[in-house]
Amino acid sequence: MCGIVGYIGNENGVSKVLEGLSRLEYRGYDSAGISYKENSDLKVVKKEGKLTNLESLVSEIKANAVVGHTRWATHGEVNDINAHPHGNDLFSVVHNGIIENAFELKKELKEQGEVFHSQTDSEVFLVLLTKNFKAEKNIKSAVLKTFSQVTGNSSFVILPRDEDNIYAIKRSAPLVCGKNDSGDQLFASSDPYALIGFVENIFFPGEEILCFLSKENKRVEFFDIEGNPSENYQSDKSRKDLKVETKEGFDHFMLKEIYEQPKLINNIAKIYETEYQELKNIKLEDIETINIIGCGTAWHAGLCMRNMFETELKKKVNVELASEFRYRKPYLTNKDMGLFISQSGETADTIACTELCKELGLKLGSILNVKDSTLNRLCDENMMIHAGQEIGVASTKAFTMQVIVGHFLMRLFQGKNPAKEFEKELEVLKNRVQGILDAPELIKKIANSIHSYKGFIFTGRNKYFPIALEGALKLKEIAYVHAEGYAAGELKHGPIALIDEEMVSICLVGPELYEKTLSNIEEIKARKGKILIVGPEEHDNLEELADWFIPLNFEGFEYFSPIYVNVVMQLLSYYIAREKGTDIDKPRNLAKSVTVE
Ligand code: AGP
Repeated sequence: MCGIVGYIGNENGVSKVLEGLSRLEYRGYDSAGISYKENSDLKVVKKEGKLTNLESLVSEIKANAVVGHTRWATHGEVNDINAHPHGNDLFSVVHNGIIENAFELKKELKEQGEVFHSQTDSEVFLVLLTKNFKAEKNIKSAVLKTFSQVTGNSSFVILPRDEDNIYAIKRSAPLVCGKNDSGDQLFASSDPYALIGFVENIFFPGEEILCFLSKENKRVEFFDIEGNPSENYQSDKSRKDLKVETKEGFDHFMLKEIYEQPKLINNIAKIYETEYQELKNIKLEDIETINIIGCGTAWHAGLCMRNMFETELKKKVNVELASEFRYRKPYLTNKDMGLFISQSGETADTIACTELCKELGLKLGSILNVKDSTLNRLCDENMMIHAGQEIGVASTKAFTMQVIVGHFLMRLFQGKNPAKEFEKELEVLKNRVQGILDAPELIKKIANSIHSYKGFIFTGRNKYFPIALEGALKLKEIAYVHAEGYAAGELKHGPIALIDEEMVSICLVGPELYEKTLSNIEEIKARKGKILIVGPEEHDNLEELADWFIPLNFEGFEYFSPIYVNVVMQLLSYYIAREKGTDIDKPRNLAKSVTVE
């Protein structure tokens, strides 16, 4: 997801905007830029690559009105021209999201003689805005008119040359505004995290609400799409729970977040004991089918819930990839529920599914980490996972908490107290996870032995199949190696052709379906495949079968053993990536929250 920070006030905005953008680096980007006012001219400085490339060019500049952007390329290659802001002599624009009708608009504007310099959709907004302003001679109405002409999920922040104000507006994309108590510092951003320490008041505008950061009036004013004053925004004293995260001695945010898991597992029951005694807006008896929807790791978390939702709630459960669900014209009725899993609450495909389900009258629930997110505002019931800020692009602690809170939701549907119901098993989970984290040497050693193999197949059955998928995703994401997750029973239906001495099979073995899973491993062994088994410590014959063996203690688990196994996967992928020397916290090509399709 792109990062946006805008500032207008009586201090130097360049340093504040750069600081805000640096906090959003973790979201992933490939270029950065700022635009600022110098005397009465608009200047734009933007560079491909890391934020430091930009900082070296602008750190000495002082300006009171500044907009900045970190771009994660959607339309147009990664280069200086396509970086934001897009500016001309009248306006500078930064954009997060996609203008879906950009092609048609650009064609029309070109036929009218307008000139474009970049390959981006965002520049279309700038050209159209400039055209509208020249016709309307009023910035506010030109911004509103332009916004109503573009389609797609987007947020825009605009710095005009001829006014000492900033304009911001969004549709199904993240946008917040902020001000300090005296009002002489005003901000707009794609993430409240960028505003920590700068503001005492945060505002969350509604859909298609224009935010007008008025330097003269020292406040943020809000207008609807017709230009009338609007109260359609939420205000919040600045978020005391948000702090600027540091690595706290760990080499990577990802490792820090892996090691945070025991504490989070320990805390979640207490939080739910006080905060969530019952579901307020959704009753199980009103639901026929539960559609669990998400992307990537969130989808894997959904797969971890399906079995027990069906067996214990006696409901039909679909687990769907958001990007597929939204286009396959699913049969849905208002007796169904959409249960959306998302760490960020801003993933475009997931949000689009939420909006689809809302239109069709479904009940909407979320399992969610970011409180002030679009998903939170769309859903009737939000089950917060309380994982804290997850900076590493590869999701770890959020997955763990999503699966746990999914189990909590099941108990709340049954009118039971999740904290009480899962108290004992959470204690077992916390201690077992802590045990793995306290002794990572074996995992490190195995990572060192296997990191150079040509490919990896993760296999698991039943409750461990989603963990095979998740383990493979982690390895792909941070080590850039080819890895696939497969249901162990599927190997013989094709993938076994991949098995040879250069391929490592990472076989997840639980006490459940033990013999069945073992026969799959024998199939691999018979073809000289290299085998890493993660399985029950009491079955020491596994050691003969495996080239490498990570013994685990499954005693005391009923629901949460997949989370336990997954922590091994997290560490394994982390240490393989270290061997590869990749950028573990900000892997190439990835964004922390994919707010575009
Ligand atoms: C997970 O490691 C990935 N970064 C990615 O698959 C992620 O889970 C997916 O983009 C969904 O993000 P969300 O949970 O914020 O919706």
